[in-house]
Amino acid sequence: MVDTKNQYRKIKQEVDAAVISVLESSQFIGGKVLNDFAVNLAAYNGVKHVVPCANGTDALQIAMMALDLQPGDEVITPSFTYIATVEAAALLKLQPVFVEVDPQTFCMDPAAVEKAITPKTRAIVPVHLYGHATDMEKIMAIAKKHHLYVIEDNAQAIGCDYTFSDGTVKKTGGIGHIGCTSFYPSKNLGAFGDGGAIFTNDDTLVEKLKMIASHGQSKRYYHDVVGCNSRLDTVQAAILDIKLKYLDQYNAARRKAADYYNKAFAGNARISLPFKASYSDHVFHQYTIILNDVSNASHGRDGLNQHLADKGIPSMIYYPVPCHRQKMFDSLGGNEFNLPVTDWLSERVISLPIHTELDEEQQDFIISNVLDFINSK
Ligand SMILES: Cc1ncc(COP(=O)(O)O)c(C=O)c1O
Repeated sequence: MVDTKNQYRKIKQEVDAAVISVLESSQFIGGKVLNDFAVNLAAYNGVKHVVPCANGTDALQIAMMALDLQPGDEVITPSFTYIATVEAAALLKLQPVFVEVDPQTFCMDPAAVEKAITPKTRAIVPVHLYGHATDMEKIMAIAKKHHLYVIEDNAQAIGCDYTFSDGTVKKTGGIGHIGCTSFYPSKNLGAFGDGGAIFTNDDTLVEKLKMIASHGQSKRYYHDVVGCNSRLDTVQAAILDIKLKYLDQYNAARRKAADYYNKAFAGNARISLPFKASYSDHVFHQYTIILNDVSNASHGRDGLNQHLADKGIPSMIYYPVPCHRQKMFDSLGGNEFNLPVTDWLSERVISLPIHTELDEEQQDFIISNVLDFINSK
């Protein structure tokens, strides 16, 4: 689905020099390189503070801890997301309240959020799925009205611009009270291992986030609150700082590849193309289409998935089982949620390879195999 090898080759000299410099400095944890990356990422994302951490899942957990969410507090999230979004809440014994997504953007439906609010609701966790923004203006207005926190899960949309109705543009991850991201290698800004970061504009909250990510310590060996141990390795920060300079270029390459697919599939009644709302940019972490006819598994989405695999083409189903239907949520009442749009999408979505190194020849091969399958059914 991605080609991190060829992406690395193009920046090998810069990356190798930066890694060697960290190795020679022996500063493997913390230090100037890590701090510089945090400052550069904050500037890029238009936020005051970035707290680097070990991965995107930790980022979400630390965010929920810093907001002092207590067991039993309700957190509204989409069910149509990667499990990490909700797992962090479950680990803290919060009650996930799953809401429906918009069938076009695949992101949390603000109207569904408003309906799900109860006196126990404390936070909303929108997920900017596949690289498209949730309608944040509406989410922030709901949060303000009901005095709720907003934690953005920006793991799949780093670099995505959101445009407010007054024309103001902000990057996703920098709109809510806290934003979280992942540097998993296949992400739009991917490390050479695990990594994550937390964004905030709040000067008080940032101290809490840093404290929790570092064993709850206010100063060395003085532990004020229960925290965890979540650090971004300095070697990863050095690599990410270089890749950050190319992020806009990487996202443009993803957009170009998406355009090429869109043109090839346009007008095909069995394929619904990725949608882009007027308020959102799209950074195509995934290129995800809906296959409209799934009356027979072998003729539908799963059949296409298998057909492409037979031709040596990777394709993925993100995600075949929505969170509320995962076994891990049986005891938290997952099955009690009625989310027909989420279920409908889970049966129909399929993601095709998209990355910075994809060329037209590769895309032509993928496209012709997709169309061969669809037209033969
Ligand atoms: C939407 C979403 N949230 C959270 C995560 C968790 O990130 P990580 O794998 O770095 O823990 C991911 C990525 O895997 C993700 O796609």
